[in-house]
Amino acid sequence: MKAVAIQAFGGPEGLAVIDLPDPSPGAGQVLIATEAIGVGGVDAVIRSDLLGVPGFQEGHILGGEVAGTVAAIGEGVDTSWLGRRVWAFTGMGGGYADQVTAAAATLVPLPANLSAVDAVTVGSSGMVAHFGLRHAHFAPGESVLVRGAAGGIGVMAVQLAARGGAGAVAVTTSSAERGDRLRKLGATHVLDRAGETAEDAPASYDVIIDIVAGANMPSLFTKLNPNGRLVAVGAVAGYPPADFGTAMISAFRKSMSFATFSADTVPEPDRRAVTTDLFTATSRGELHAIVHEVLPLRKAVLAHQKMEAGEVFGRIVLTPSGN
Ligand SMILES: NC(=O)c1ccc[n+]([C@@H]2O[C@H](COP(=O)([O-])OP(=O)(O)OC[C@H]3O[C@@H](n4cnc5c(N)ncnc54)[C@H](OP(=O)(O)O)[C@@H]3O)[C@@H](O)[C@H]2O)c1
Repeated sequence: MKAVAIQAFGGPEGLAVIDLPDPSPGAGQVLIATEAIGVGGVDAVIRSDLLGVPGFQEGHILGGEVAGTVAAIGEGVDTSWLGRRVWAFTGMGGGYADQVTAAAATLVPLPANLSAVDAVTVGSSGMVAHFGLRHAHFAPGESVLVRGAAGGIGVMAVQLAARGGAGAVAVTTSSAERGDRLRKLGATHVLDRAGETAEDAPASYDVIIDIVAGANMPSLFTKLNPNGRLVAVGAVAGYPPADFGTAMISAFRKSMSFATFSADTVPEPDRRAVTTDLFTATSRGELHAIVHEVLPLRKAVLAHQKMEAGEVFGRIVLTPSGN
């Protein structure tokens, strides 16, 4: 099989295509002949070793989700999966390959009219956005700020907040053109990366979904309403300053909450149920898969260079075939 693995942590050029023996599914697993492979910001975080997350070694195959056809099944797996078009959650890695083994428990069948590319675009990012909003106890009528809205998770959080009846959906993004695209997905106010705007945006919000973290994170506590909730879903700009809690405690009279959210804490059946609903909504045109570009697997370095350059709006998708 062909796979893309980290040969050296750091820049995109540390990724390389490697040949490995064809895998066979273990007990409870299926083998998927991949059609589409999602490229997420989390892959860049792991590759660059931005957060120093332990447990990753050279040779690690990136890729948290794939879609394709079940080509073989392992012991104990229902034979009805064979030959079906599915989406699978591979979590922290294993997806950048033309053949992928995945736990049968993660599989979601694809609706007939949903492409594999769209499935890996809305799959895990929509699921994370959904549960991130839920973790924030988001309720209809509340105002929401999505920080880092132009990425894979952000474009889904904007759509889900708008669809969920948010009173306002503000976004941070780096250009007016991106702001216009986010408005078409449901954003009502567009802020620059620093959270500033010339227009009449709310001064503060009930819910902030933060995908960015980094040095400016403490300023978010000034943008929460009383009883507001800030949920850190990602950290594309790295860790916040070590004393960021000072900004939160100094505004303690607002009774605000800070939480982190990881899909790792969501039980598998709940992840599957929500992903199934996201696929149905996308196949009906109620949600939009924002595909930035589809590139062949062997161009994974280019995909990461594009992410690094900040070019990507939505998701890049890899496909095992093509030039
Ligand atoms: N919680 C979970 O379960 C979970 C699951 C998967 C991934 N994650 C995390 O989510 C993050 C990736 O999310 P994603 O795939 O949506 O990211 P992404 O596609 O890389 O996009 C994030 C957006 O943030 C903006 N941004 C980038 N760098 C920035 C900076 N220095 N300051 C301000 N804004 C910046 C960019 O938009 P503009 O240029 O328009 O500002 C970018 O489009 C990672 O940290 C990953 O670990 C969490």
